[in-house]
Amino acid sequence: MAVGVFDSGLGGLTVLNAVSKRLPDVPFAYFADSAHAPYGVRDADDVYNLTCKATERLWDEGCDLVILACNTASAAALRRMQESWIPKDKRVLGVFVPLIEALTERQWGDNSPPREVAVKHVALFATPATVSSRAFQRELAFRAIGVDVEAQACGGLVDAIEEGDMILAEALVRSHVDALKRKMPNPEAAILGCTHYPLMQEIFQDALGPQVAVYSQANLVADSLADYLERHPNMHGAGENSCFLTTGDPAKVSRHATQFLKRKIDFAKA
Ligand code: DGL
Repeated sequence: MAVGVFDSGLGGLTVLNAVSKRLPDVPFAYFADSAHAPYGVRDADDVYNLTCKATERLWDEGCDLVILACNTASAAALRRMQESWIPKDKRVLGVFVPLIEALTERQWGDNSPPREVAVKHVALFATPATVSSRAFQRELAFRAIGVDVEAQACGGLVDAIEEGDMILAEALVRSHVDALKRKMPNPEAAILGCTHYPLMQEIFQDALGPQVAVYSQANLVADSLADYLERHPNMHGAGENSCFLTTGDPAKVSRHATQFLKRKIDFAKA
């Protein structure tokens, strides 16, 4: 009964950490497409093709349900996958909707018309591909009215995190927050719309100030997955083992993953 978790690289580990704490009896197969990261500078076709390939690899591990723990893939590929590619006995879920439901104070599956919500000024930090897809604004518009979203594409940040260059990553976070504040001086909420960014959450919070509520996805996705598996117990899949797979250099990816999660992680070649 394994569930697949996919990201272009290490960012999805923030989601993996939360889902494995929330569901300790479920084995998770993690796939990092490190050889092709970052996805955030690729075009939609490229992201779609890479994401389908990674998803198939997780199906081969016995995962009937795959979580795209990657906003870029969720934004640029998920809808197309769901419309025409995923077989009937498999499911692929993204990470956007649980976050937007939390921001708009909705329960899962509440499809009532869009309504006014408490937050009016929201900063979105995400990869260039996620920002240009406008997927976040589209999903938000289904649920809320009157919310002003200012998006900041955080070029370079995923590369710095993947390389473990935390000094550069911090400098980039501060400069992207400054750029956002020039466009929207007083956001009430900030969305970390890339699963790599929670690894820098304290720096985002510090740069934004304590008055800004920072939303990140890991715990929201974990709650939503637990809820989904309760409603769909048949989607646990046949796989029995947790594993970590990468298309990159397993030694390097394991070293950085161990540094981020503060526990030993051993990646194998995908
Ligand atoms: N963690 C991915 C996301 O949530 C990173 C994308 C990338 O590889 O640029 O968007």
